[in-house]
Amino acid sequence: MLTIRRDDGHIDTHGPGIYFAPDPFAHEASLLQDVEGPVLDVGSGAGRTLLWLDRKGVEAVGVDLSPGAVNVAQDRGCRDVRLGDVMDPKGKILGDDMFQTVVVFGNNMGIGGTYEGAEALLHRLACAVMPSGQALVTGLDIAQTNQPHHLAYHRRNLDKGRPRGEIKMRFEYQGATGEWVRWFHPEPDELARLARSAGWTVERIGPAGGPFYAGVLRNAR
Ligand SMILES: C[S@@+](CC[C@H](N)C(=O)[O-])C[C@H]1O[C@@H](n2cnc3c(N)ncnc32)[C@H](O)[C@@H]1O
Repeated sequence: MLTIRRDDGHIDTHGPGIYFAPDPFAHEASLLQDVEGPVLDVGSGAGRTLLWLDRKGVEAVGVDLSPGAVNVAQDRGCRDVRLGDVMDPKGKILGDDMFQTVVVFGNNMGIGGTYEGAEALLHRLACAVMPSGQALVTGLDIAQTNQPHHLAYHRRNLDKGRPRGEIKMRFEYQGATGEWVRWFHPEPDELARLARSAGWTVERIGPAGGPFYAGVLRNAR
């Protein structure tokens, strides 16, 4: 099992198979119904969404920071997966490529690590998406909990003047331990605020089943 350990000791475990699922998750499916390429998959991991898009005949490019993830995605048949940091302000990895749709799945709004980082990510993505192009975003609605340890974590953040959803976590798998990384789970209203200030209009953001929300943002440039 893969363990995700938060810095307060809370752990989530799941099988690595979720990163290899052949079909989109239920909370992603409706977003992808009319997806238009070319698509940029941000933090494409093992190529879960890229392979599905490929089967549908939709042109797509993946970007991932992890050489291991890029290798796995390429081995699985993903045609265009690039190794790089999507936050790179010089945009080396995307060059002048422009996309009709950007997909931010697997809680990947968190990549920026903080509220400010999420705003920078959304700015970066707005520059890579054609006028009137869209961003499809899913996330975890972290406020939907009554678990005392989650509520205590949120309270500590709020007391520091930070959003509830800023966390530090690391991955552990079969004896290997990753670095601690900052991750940010924006709440739906925070995502809306961030999107507007980063040059997007909010078409919709709403519950998507279970603890998840799904959103469609439209490039306002
Ligand atoms: C939680 S996994 C999600 C993978 C995939 N989107 C999915 O839903 O199956 C997050 C992925 O984002 C990648 N990642 C994290 N920070 C990144 C960055 N700054 N630029 C590009 N990829 C990044 C990680 O290497 C990892 O493969």
